[in-house]
Order: sequence, then C-alpha cells, then structure tokens
Amino acid sequence: MYYCILFAKILSEIFIMRTAALITGGAKRIGKEICIFLAKKGFDIALHYNSSEQEAKKVSREVKRCGVDCKLFKYDLSNPNKISVLVSKVFKQFPQCSILVNNASVFKDSLFNNITIKEFENDFRINFTSPFFLTQQFSKYESCSMVINIIDTRVSKINTSYFAYNISKYSLYKFTKMAAKQLAPQIRVNGICPGDILPLAGLDQSYLSKRSKRLPVKKVGSVSNVIKALDYLMSNDFVTGQCLFVDGGEHLI
Ligand SMILES: NC(=O)c1ccc[n+]([C@@H]2O[C@H](COP(=O)([O-])OP(=O)(O)OC[C@H]3O[C@@H](n4cnc5c(N)ncnc54)[C@H](OP(=O)(O)O)[C@@H]3O)[C@@H](O)[C@H]2O)c1
Repeated sequence: MYYCILFAKILSEIFIMRTAALITGGAKRIGKEICIFLAKKGFDIALHYNSSEQEAKKVSREVKRCGVDCKLFKYDLSNPNKISVLVSKVFKQFPQCSILVNNASVFKDSLFNNITIKEFENDFRINFTSPFFLTQQFSKYESCSMVINIIDTRVSKINTSYFAYNISKYSLYKFTKMAAKQLAPQIRVNGICPGDILPLAGLDQSYLSKRSKRLPVKKVGSVSNVIKALDYLMSNDFVTGQCLFVDGGEHLI
C-alpha cells in the first residue's frame, strides 16, 4: 500500500505541474496565514519577504509540511525598478504560477503638513506602485489567472491621519477595478478591505476589543475572516473588480 501511494506521488510530481501563488510580505501576520491557507489548498508558494528572513524560513518549513513546495524571494518593494526581474525569477521556479496576492504594506502615520517627499514616495512605492507593476508583470505570463489586492477599510472614509498611507490605498482600491477591466477575461482582479484584524506592534488584543465596541457587529475580526474572503474570491469565477470589506461594518460608520 505504502509503495502504491509513493508511486502515485512520484507520477503526479512528474506529470502534473502544480500551480503556484506569489504572496508579497508572506513571512508574518496576515501574509503568513495566506501562505499557509494556499499551501493547504495545494498551491506551491512563492513567498516574498524583505527584512523577515528568519520568519520567512519558518513559514517555508510550515508550508512544506502541507506537501507543497516553497521558495523564498527577497525584494525591497520601496524600489519597484526591478520588479520584472523578481517576477521572472518566480516564474523560473514556478512556470505555472497563477495567483498574485499583493499583501505587503507599510503603515506609518503621516500628516499632510509635514510629510516629506521621501516619506510620501516610500509609502506610495510599497503600497501602490509595487502592486501596480507586480500586476503588470505578472499578467504577461499565460498561467496568471487571478490577482488579489489587500487594501484597507480606510478607503471608505475621508481620514486625514495616515495621510500618505490612505492615499496609497485609495489608489490601490481604484486600481483593483481598473485592472479588473483591463485584464479581463483572462485574469480576475479583486480586493479585500480589512478593518482591525491584528494589532500594531506594541498593542495587544485588548486594544482591538475596545475599538470593536464602535463596530456594527460589536466584535473583533480575525485573520480567518480575511482568509474566508480570499477563499470566496478565489472560488467564485463570476466575480471580478470587487473589493470585499471585511471590517465588521466599519465602512458603514
Ligand atoms: N493588520 C490589520 O489589522 C490590517 C488592517 C487593514 C488593512 N490591512 C492590510 O492587510 C495587509 C497585511 O497586513 P499586516 O498587518 O499583516 O501587514 P504588516 O505586518 O504591516 O506588513 C506585511 C509585510 O509587508 C512587508 N513590507 C513592508 N515594507 C516592505 C518593503 N519595503 N519591501 C517589501 N516588503 C515590505 C513586510 O515584510 P518583511 O517583514 O519581510 O520586511 C511585512 O511583513 C496589508 O496590506 C495591510 O495594509 C491590515
């Protein structure tokens, strides 16, 4: 029996080329859970990271325990100039890569009055310019069928704190719809707009519990809520250009 299973596995490795997913910022937090979810679904994982090498290696081991392959790709998204090189490296490893999840992001407070060009450009490059060019480069490959952008419920409001972050995410929100139109019918492009899911460094779950009292659903969200939205967007092939608000109703208040 054991040899039959082993033989079947070897045959499938030879004859069935598994598909893969590229997840940016996949070493930690929401990105890590997306990697593990997609690995459990049978995707090989192209895990992008920037500074979190140790965490990326740990996630890679966890992904491999799901029976799929995982390769790590280090790249600083504040410099989008070599994104085509990054994407071609991914396709060299995984020629059948089909999903791109633009998850990496920088969330820094900035005020209109004193933000510098350097700070503004840094936020914009990581949160918008890089997802834009990753999508552009990714879409050139025949196997590409889906792009998911992780946005933010903040795009539903006019909020002047985190000024540059908010503008970069507004851009990503509109881009999601424009790209869905541009890249149809081959590629579906959708977004997820999370509310409070994980606390920032230095804050704990009690901070989110307090904040949840203002939400229509009066409870704290979790990464599994984001994953369920991802699962839905992946499975429903009649949906494109949608941005799902996974925020306990925060966009309504
Ligand atoms: N957490 C929430 O509650 C929440 C709420 C609303 C929206 N979101 C959105 O959901 C997504 C994931 O949230 P998160 O809190 O898990 O994200 P996060 O921890 O703030 O950041 C995710 C990853 O982005 C990567 N990153 C940052 N700067 C980079 C750079 N210059 N080059 C390449 N990668 C860079 C980092 O990779 P390294 O660690 O490898 O450097 C980091 O691990 C983000 O798009 C965020 O805007 C999250």
